[in-house]
Amino acid sequence: MSVINKDFTYIDLFAGIGGFRQAMMKYSDGEATCLYSSEINEQAVNTYKVNYNEVPLGDIKKIDPLKMNLDSPDVVCGGFPCQTFSKGGNQAGFKDSRGTLFREIIRIINCYDFKNKPKILILENVQNLVNHDNGETWKTIRHEISESGYNVIERPLIVAPKDFGIPQLRNRAIILAVRKDIYNGKINFDIPRRRTGNCSITSILENESKETNKYKLNKNLLKILDCWDEFIHIIPKEKRIIGYPIWSDEFGQTYDYSDFPKWKQEIIRKNRKLFMTYKNEITKRLKKWKIRDTFTNTDRKFEWQAGKDIESVYDGIIQFRTSGIRVKRPTESPALVAMDHRPIYGPQKRYITAREAARLQSFPDNFVLNKDPKESFKQLGNAVNVNVIYNVFKLFIEYLDSKEVNNE
Ligand SMILES: C[S@@+](CC[C@H](N)C(=O)[O-])C[C@H]1O[C@@H](n2cnc3c(N)ncnc32)[C@H](O)[C@@H]1O
Repeated sequence: MSVINKDFTYIDLFAGIGGFRQAMMKYSDGEATCLYSSEINEQAVNTYKVNYNEVPLGDIKKIDPLKMNLDSPDVVCGGFPCQTFSKGGNQAGFKDSRGTLFREIIRIINCYDFKNKPKILILENVQNLVNHDNGETWKTIRHEISESGYNVIERPLIVAPKDFGIPQLRNRAIILAVRKDIYNGKINFDIPRRRTGNCSITSILENESKETNKYKLNKNLLKILDCWDEFIHIIPKEKRIIGYPIWSDEFGQTYDYSDFPKWKQEIIRKNRKLFMTYKNEITKRLKKWKIRDTFTNTDRKFEWQAGKDIESVYDGIIQFRTSGIRVKRPTESPALVAMDHRPIYGPQKRYITAREAARLQSFPDNFVLNKDPKESFKQLGNAVNVNVIYNVFKLFIEYLDSKEVNNE
């Protein structure tokens, strides 16, 4: 007998647009029941309602399962807010009220008597959660889950869609726990991973259509990319492994930079050396493209992360980022975040569409997206990858089933 039957029950906390729910539906072939969900963002609630015909309960802080007569589920799913643990956020962790929302999950679990508590917890957050505050944050989280009666994985699993052949780089931390009376042995659980570079972005692309044409790059962006494409061709292919950002502002400069931090000195030194190696060609391009006069600060910076594998900027996945323009191999897309850094598919000189973003997150094609692509990208950037959760959950249940579990 499995630790859970296919018709198990679950709750979807911090539900967003229901990435966890998709995974639970997939795992159970639609047999599992969501007892309730919680989401505070109005737009996300709308998308959730359209897709699952259920309006999530709002603020998790207002949920009182006993007073509200909410049954205890078999499984708790929760991708608690990550901004305070994320490298991109303020890193305030538990000092920021958003960090303490994790404790709402604990509060809900602790409403129930021990034997009635959920059997399994599957929670998700950013990779940085593991090292945040020198590991203290994770220690606290693990301790609090354990004190609530759970046998918790020693360290969160760090998993990305590309580990399962889905073309997106997106490392996330997944926390797994099982009620102690069910299994209290060591959780020696890991998953098999595919090697990076084994996927292809073409697997998620829509056919060219009116929709994809809407996302074509404008003339100005194409001009900037044409320039960097010419630039990259100055460097002979066999030498085109540039492992540092190219800062065109440094070309031809001679000012003293010895007071700068070490990492910056190193980048400047390499850029000046690059300039001296290809001085004539680079000087011609600087003039031809008027880089210094017409490009923005960020567009004057360029990161080639494709080694010798591709010939041109337009063979890769491109992103206009605050740190500069980045080109990667067309194997995996960079992690979806929001609209601003939307990946560009080089061969078609266009941004990816919202449907393609949904595919990068393994949402099925019948999932109804928000009509505003900007909102859709935000929601998908916040979501969990469905197949990552599906696979990890499935493998974890199989792992538990291979142990001597007490499943009365
Ligand atoms: C990282 S996202 C989770 C996304 C979700 N896993 C998915 O697949 O779409 C965190 C979510 O928590 C929601 N949230 C933040 N504070 C909340 C609160 N007090 N009560 C309920 N939901 C909240 C946010 O609006 C956001 O959608």
